Amino acid sequence: MGLNGAVIAGSHNAAVGLPAAWEILAAGGTAVDAVEAATRLVEDNAADHSVGYAGYPNLLGEVELDASIMDGSDRRVGAVGALKGHRHPVSVARAVMEQLPHAFLVGEGAARFAADLGLQTEDLLTEETRRIWREGIEGKFPGKLELFREPLAQLTALAADPMHVAGTVNVVARDSRGHVAVAVSTSGWAWKHPGRVGDSPVVGAGIYADDRYGAIGCTGLGELSIRSGLARDVISRLAGGQDLASAGRAALDDMASMAAHVGSAAVMNMVTLDRDGATAAFSTTPDAHYVVMRDGSTEPEKIASLYVKWPGTETAAGKERGA
Ligand code: GLY
Repeated sequence: MGLNGAVIAGSHNAAVGLPAAWEILAAGGTAVDAVEAATRLVEDNAADHSVGYAGYPNLLGEVELDASIMDGSDRRVGAVGALKGHRHPVSVARAVMEQLPHAFLVGEGAARFAADLGLQTEDLLTEETRRIWREGIEGKFPGKLELFREPLAQLTALAADPMHVAGTVNVVARDSRGHVAVAVSTSGWAWKHPGRVGDSPVVGAGIYADDRYGAIGCTGLGELSIRSGLARDVISRLAGGQDLASAGRAALDDMASMAAHVGSAAVMNMVTLDRDGATAAFSTTPDAHYVVMRDGSTEPEKIASLYVKWPGTETAAGKERGA
């Protein structure tokens, strides 16, 4: 491998961020810098409603973001959950990792930390996402937005829109010194209960990186990867001597029974790399792909994800949601 095995890979929606991040790696930069740079560009992408600015809001129409970043050289991690008003939660997560004796901040405390960093707040809801939110809610409860005075738990069960549930960006990288890193960022389920935090900032569920074995980032129904400890499960299988393809498949196979109880909303995707820079992605949706850049790339290369079938979860809606 050229550049001593440097490589960057991400979920399909990471393509907008990969070229700039690859330049960092090609110039000898770190995996942590590269995954943060790629993720920030996706967080800026107003056409992507699963991440950052213009992400879909919660049940009350508020955009709440989750993100994390992990450095495989020392397994330091920073994470934020349910952060409002900041389009780059991945950078707030990185500051948690580098500036605090903590790993994970949520809600008002995360917003306070972002303000202390000097970051400006902004409205992350756009005209388009406000309209889609209103239509999504009012489609189920015509003329009944006042229902939000009722206990929200009942509405969450009805309002979590299966067509807008999944979506997240994840980026894994290995730099020329052999260090690996991963970053994940998401606006989470559309119309989620306020304060709901998914797997993206939960270390061991949506994210893990360890120079000895590799790096993993997950997208999909975060409740499932939280329940299984998915990212850490893949790492443990790599540590046990399995190759990337076997480790990823086995970890997803292990979740099949819990996914079958969830039904059509059960979707999971992973982008992974091993310590040598080999990459693979996995999806419970057929025909998914991920993107990669390494020495010689001029643009992100689309590569098919390995399909892992979860019996009892296939629907047209699941197929359309994709990876
Ligand atoms: N995987 C993203 C989420 O569940 O929020």
